[in-house]
Amino acid sequence: MIERFQKWMRNKGVPTLSDDNIPRHIAVIMDGNGRWANRKGLPRFAGHHSGMKAVKRITIAADAMGVKYLTMYAFSTENWKRPKEEVDFLMKLPQEFLAIELQELIDKNVQVRMMGYKEDLPEHTLRAIEEAESKTKNNTGLVLNFALNYGSRRELAETVKEIAKRIESGELSAEQITEEQIERQLLSSHLPDPDLLIRTSGELRLSNFMLWQLAYSELWFTDVYWPEFTEAHLYEAIAEYQRRTRRYGGLS
Ligand code: FPP
Repeated sequence: MIERFQKWMRNKGVPTLSDDNIPRHIAVIMDGNGRWANRKGLPRFAGHHSGMKAVKRITIAADAMGVKYLTMYAFSTENWKRPKEEVDFLMKLPQEFLAIELQELIDKNVQVRMMGYKEDLPEHTLRAIEEAESKTKNNTGLVLNFALNYGSRRELAETVKEIAKRIESGELSAEQITEEQIERQLLSSHLPDPDLLIRTSGELRLSNFMLWQLAYSELWFTDVYWPEFTEAHLYEAIAEYQRRTRRYGGLS
């Protein structure tokens, strides 16, 4: 797949991707489903449904381009504020997605993971996710990590709580708290920090997403709505990533 895109993008004047600088972890804020649907005169649900198809498309493309971890922000701890019908619809999507795609993900050696608070999810959503996690746990390819009922501030508050408990029990002293200690308690402890964050739909904010983990990530924004985000956009984002110099506060 990558060769096909290399050629296509070259014709558009986008440089060829270099194989040795593919972002290891890409995190995506999949925004604009509702506006996409509205623009087409469709109900918001149709936007989310089409967004689900984009998840499949981008998973396959990211894998083909050599990405190792792909985190998709599918539902935030704040999304419960939406109308009940929309929340119910969003909670059915993992099930529908996995019913259609799980076998292909297994065949492609993808590991499905979830990052978020499982205890608040409806039983049917949790069952689908846990089945996918369990059936793909021995796979060694791309990690497809769904941020579902995820919120960074809650994650940080829970982390502080956990560390405070360990101090209370005498297991740890305040002086022993390190960045690594904190990272081990985060919901993302199974992942490296994202190298690249993509947000669609023209909004320029982080929306409570991976605030700790994105400290040194490269950020890439596009006006394109998530349902129309294609392999070519992913390619363009990676090409732009490869033009950046990451200094992590040092000098290049
Ligand atoms: C934000 O767009 C998007 C969401 C809150 C949901 C994202 C979910 C998907 C793309 C589908 C997930 C698929 C799986 C397999 C779990 P918005 O609805 O806020 O868009 P708007 O800002 O245009 O209204």
